[in-house]
Amino acid sequence: MDIALISAAYIVAALLFILSLAGLSKHETARDGNVLGMIGMGLALVATLWLALRGSSALNWLLIAVAMAIGAAIGIWRARIVEMTGMPELIAMLHSFVGAAAVLVGFNTYLATGSDGSGGSDGVHLVEIFLGVFIGAVTFTGSIVAFLKLSARISSKPLMLPARHWLNLAALVVSAALLVWFVASHSIVPLAVMTAIALAFGWHLVASIGGGDMPVVVSMLNSYSGWAAAAAGFMLGNDLLIVTGALVGSSGAYLSYIMCKAMNRSFVSVIAGGFGSDGAVSNTDVDYGDHRETNADEVADLLTHASSVVITPGYGMAVAQAQYPVADLTAKLRERGVDVRFGIHPVAGRLPGHMNVLLAEAKVPYDIVLEMDEINDDFPETDVVLVIGANDTVNPAAAEDPTSPIAGMPVLEVWNAKEVVVFKRSMNAGYAGVQNPLFFRDNSAMLFGDAKERVEDIIKAL
Ligand code: TAP
Repeated sequence: MDIALISAAYIVAALLFILSLAGLSKHETARDGNVLGMIGMGLALVATLWLALRGSSALNWLLIAVAMAIGAAIGIWRARIVEMTGMPELIAMLHSFVGAAAVLVGFNTYLATGSDGSGGSDGVHLVEIFLGVFIGAVTFTGSIVAFLKLSARISSKPLMLPARHWLNLAALVVSAALLVWFVASHSIVPLAVMTAIALAFGWHLVASIGGGDMPVVVSMLNSYSGWAAAAAGFMLGNDLLIVTGALVGSSGAYLSYIMCKAMNRSFVSVIAGGFGSDGAVSNTDVDYGDHRETNADEVADLLTHASSVVITPGYGMAVAQAQYPVADLTAKLRERGVDVRFGIHPVAGRLPGHMNVLLAEAKVPYDIVLEMDEINDDFPETDVVLVIGANDTVNPAAAEDPTSPIAGMPVLEVWNAKEVVVFKRSMNAGYAGVQNPLFFRDNSAMLFGDAKERVEDIIKAL
């Protein structure tokens, strides 16, 4: 395989990645999109290996093969055992690997090309190394904090250091000064100092973002990991890595923008780390009065007399794996002529599209699964809403209480329906740690217990 062939393989792989992203943007084509991405990555891997190892000794090939086999074995093992609910933290962990790789590639490139410039470390190349290491280090620690928060190993509350914005600004200004020193001196000292600052900066950026804003952080780190990969591509002079990194970086940035819009947060404030949060505290102690309890028989009766039903699933449906009985219940009600639809909040669950994936898995027809904006106006004409394991995404405090930590976040306005049944195990708060006044409304009833078991009970009672 000569260079022309490798370039051709790179172009085809880049096209496959673009087609893959296009496919992933719709339910119907997502599987094909995944397949195209896998073919592209396979092609890219073969071409890169050939490019890097042409004419190398058998030992080099063997070392790479062993490293790839170990990596593949760990990857396959993790992918097979991960629960759907554990996906966000796994993704955060994988982003941290991309960040770490960019830091290592940066230092390796610096050391390999010669610290005194004799090995070809011109100014542009030094800037590439510096930026690559900076983005990689921020991505590395930021993703580790995201992993710890998403897996509940540390509190999801925002870290509110005094003068935190000044600290962030100081980190950026000092890093810019270190860049000038690095390019002028070619010394490893400014590179090493900047790495330490960037590691702390990444940690602080994500630590200061509160639980409710984590969806934006996940997509933002996705974007950072893309830019880190693109930076590594510049350092290694690998065009495909630059293109692939830019695709991941820009699609992650676009996803972050969509998430910010969905949560009514300013993009800049989230990137700046907790800029939007003013330290608002959760309202768990507010007394909203009493809640009403119901049971499966009563809900079955309610559904028997309903002509329109909307189901709003949330993270609890994923935990309970209730999507299969929910799909059965939907089919049963539709057979009886009930108009059943789903309302999906953009940040329901723990990763973008979480609910859509679960419902697709259980074969719920796509055309009855609607976005929040498509369904919100229909709640006043809806007879029954089944809130299955959702909490923050149906919390009226977001719309009505300006002091709430989730104030301003658009939510599914389920309380406007005639009857609301909330499936959950206790009166505990949702991910953002905020009490939900919906549970205490006159038209709401709580159906306590595991969502899967309760839905199965209703199917039996119908
Ligand atoms: P949450 O606010 O997380 O609430 C889920 C509810 O499900 C809990 O209140 C819990 O109550 C209930 N639950 C848990 N296990 C259950 C089970 N086995 N059976 C029945 N109920 C169960 O859910 P949401 O409305 O989907 O909101 C998502 C939250 O996660 C938002 O705050 C969002 O910002 C955040 N977040 C989202 C993402 C993305 S990208 N989607 C990423 C990170 C964070 P009990 O404990 O009382 O049962």
